[in-house]
Amino acid sequence: MTKMKNAERLNRIAPSGIRQLFSRAQGIPGVISLGIGQPNIPTPNGLIDSVVRLIKGGDNYYSPTPGTKTFREGVAEQNKRDYNLDYDPNTQVLATASGCEALYCALMAFVDPGDEVLIPDPSFLTYPRQAILAGGVPVWMKPTKELKIDTSNLQEYISDRSKVIILNFPSNPTGEIMTAAELKPIVDLAVDNDLIILTDEVYEKCIFTDDNHIRVSNLNGAYERTLLLNSFSKTLCVPGWRLGYAAGPKEMISQMIKMHSFIVANAPTAQQNAIGDFINTSEFDEFTKKLRDTLKERMIKIVKGFNSINGVSCRKPEGSFYAFPRVTFHKDYTTSNELSEEIFEKQKIVLVPGTEFGPSGEGHLRASFGSISLNQIDEVMQRLKEL
Ligand SMILES: Cc1ncc(COP(=O)(O)O)c(C=O)c1O
Repeated sequence: MTKMKNAERLNRIAPSGIRQLFSRAQGIPGVISLGIGQPNIPTPNGLIDSVVRLIKGGDNYYSPTPGTKTFREGVAEQNKRDYNLDYDPNTQVLATASGCEALYCALMAFVDPGDEVLIPDPSFLTYPRQAILAGGVPVWMKPTKELKIDTSNLQEYISDRSKVIILNFPSNPTGEIMTAAELKPIVDLAVDNDLIILTDEVYEKCIFTDDNHIRVSNLNGAYERTLLLNSFSKTLCVPGWRLGYAAGPKEMISQMIKMHSFIVANAPTAQQNAIGDFINTSEFDEFTKKLRDTLKERMIKIVKGFNSINGVSCRKPEGSFYAFPRVTFHKDYTTSNELSEEIFEKQKIVLVPGTEFGPSGEGHLRASFGSISLNQIDEVMQRLKEL
């Protein structure tokens, strides 16, 4: 029996609280979930038609390990078109089975046991867990009061084991974006200490301000040490398709390809071909505009709603589809975990405790507005006021 025990590495990571809340809420009548981060905007018709056509036409086999030519060329073209960024499709792009797999390949390919991985606090809960699975040691970078990375004393996070720094904006869970000026000291830190930058830009098309998204790789000194990690889950509303990519220096991408070949061997073939063609069409641009406009309308309403509750204060997220209100409104409230439980038990609303995303998330709840209607936002606020 003892040999049936799980491997030690699994004991070092906590399960995903978001996935647990997601399963728990399934099938309970009247539950409104602001839990999981997926957009409910219908996937573009042209893209669905194209993947169905490809599958019916027989595109159902393994693809080359780095991805199909159509996909890699499409990704390189879109990066050139939108960001004037050059990637050689033959050597600098790897199709992955999701953003999560891109991150996993990168960490597994570059982190040795004991290497330190700098992670913004708070951030996507998969970062510290995957860093630990790779044998690394997560190091939280403290936030400013707006919950952006505090760049006033970055050197304090550096040791002789520092190896990787992870960036993510628009941010899950805070919705903050970063300007070139804010990023400069971080890129300088990476250059001065020879760190690899993993930049997770999966919410690049979900920005509500007039700012254009910035590719970290375009900043001075960044390109040769930066792996761009991306996904179509949010951009094209296809989280079930599991398709993403990594792009970066060819020597680094070739190491990731080696890792990827022993994890999934290749990303889904028909989806690669359909998306590779789609992302440089006018339908893609129209769709991403609709995505942004729809999410922005919900964002304005949810922020207003939270701020109308005594003891709740909510900043306007600049992007992504999460609000991260600060909460002090409940008399029995001690931790955001307990408050999230109480709200679920009493009012059947799923809100994720902020501590899922790092220690500085205490006192916050994360509300995804990816999959709720404007009417449901009214209903949520009504129920919270009755708590
Ligand atoms: C910041 C961030 N990165 C990556 C992902 C992973 O996306 P996927 O694995 O669906 O491509 C998510 C999903 O929620 C996310 O929030």
